[in-house]
Amino acid sequence: MKTKVTVVGAGNVGATTAHWLAAMNVADVVLLDIPQMEKMPMGKALDLMQAGPVFGFDTQVVGTNDYADTKDSDVVVVTAGVPRKPGMTREDLVQTNQRIITDVIGRALAASPHAIFIVVTNPLDTMVYLALKVSGLPRERLFGQAGVLDSARFRTFIARELDVSVENVQASVLGGHGDEMVPLVRYSTVAGVPIGELLPPERINAIVERTRKGGGEIVELLKTSAYYAPGAAVAKMVEAILKDKKLILPASAYLQGEYGLNDICFGVPVKLGAKGIEQILEYKLNAEERTMFDKSVNLIRGTMSALKY
Ligand code: APR
Repeated sequence: MKTKVTVVGAGNVGATTAHWLAAMNVADVVLLDIPQMEKMPMGKALDLMQAGPVFGFDTQVVGTNDYADTKDSDVVVVTAGVPRKPGMTREDLVQTNQRIITDVIGRALAASPHAIFIVVTNPLDTMVYLALKVSGLPRERLFGQAGVLDSARFRTFIARELDVSVENVQASVLGGHGDEMVPLVRYSTVAGVPIGELLPPERINAIVERTRKGGGEIVELLKTSAYYAPGAAVAKMVEAILKDKKLILPASAYLQGEYGLNDICFGVPVKLGAKGIEQILEYKLNAEERTMFDKSVNLIRGTMSALKY
């Protein structure tokens, strides 16, 4: 039986996630948006499905405004939300997306009580935390995508700097998304060699800074937020779950003592398989990494404090 993935929010990130998933031929895809968006998800779904004969995928793609069509999904990806607009405070953004996430999680979970949930809506770690509280799901079954994207940006810049294939570059990041990211330079390698042995500190620092500001760099160019790489990052996580790959990736997970933290969602390396998060890996941190880590924790806790219950 083919598996089923629902993507809630058929905007840029949602539709691009559906695109990558269809091309990977791993599951049928349901693309859902609110009734106010009318038939937009149906249009995108039909267009995407018609790429199948060209690309050689048999993925069924359904667009809808009705959660009944999402019934019994294996994975639900949540990209619904509003982007931060000029003049909007962080608190406004948190509260608007809080309403959206609360609505989406309730409806999607009712339709797919056994699904694994991946939250993508920003501010990411805060929205993952909220979604866990609203759903009552165990942390294994609900987590967020941020680190796959941040580490992909890091890997891209390292590969370009050293003129090697991105496939040779492994990069580890912890912590919050974007500016709040904690790069683990010591654990980042090219064909097994730590990047500290390949690049001078000032080049590494420049790459880390560019990675941290990677989202902003794209907004500046595009006048909206990124979607190709974010969509690809989500699709990679979905694939790891559906194929039970036991793939170690960074994800925003609810911590219960790991890294000395409690009651927070934070980017950490996890093992992803059919049960969702099957393990949280704890890397040893040195003093410098711990300082960045603590700063990231404080930034996330600050954003979390804008949630209203
Ligand atoms: N239920 C379903 N969909 C919703 C809801 C809701 N309650 N509220 C809003 N949406 C939909 C919007 O109609 C829109 O089509 O979510 C979609 C969001 O799409 P975009 O505005 O294109 O935003 P996008 O760039 O895809 O980003 C979505 O992902 O990476 C994060 O920061 C980003 O939080 C943002 C989210």
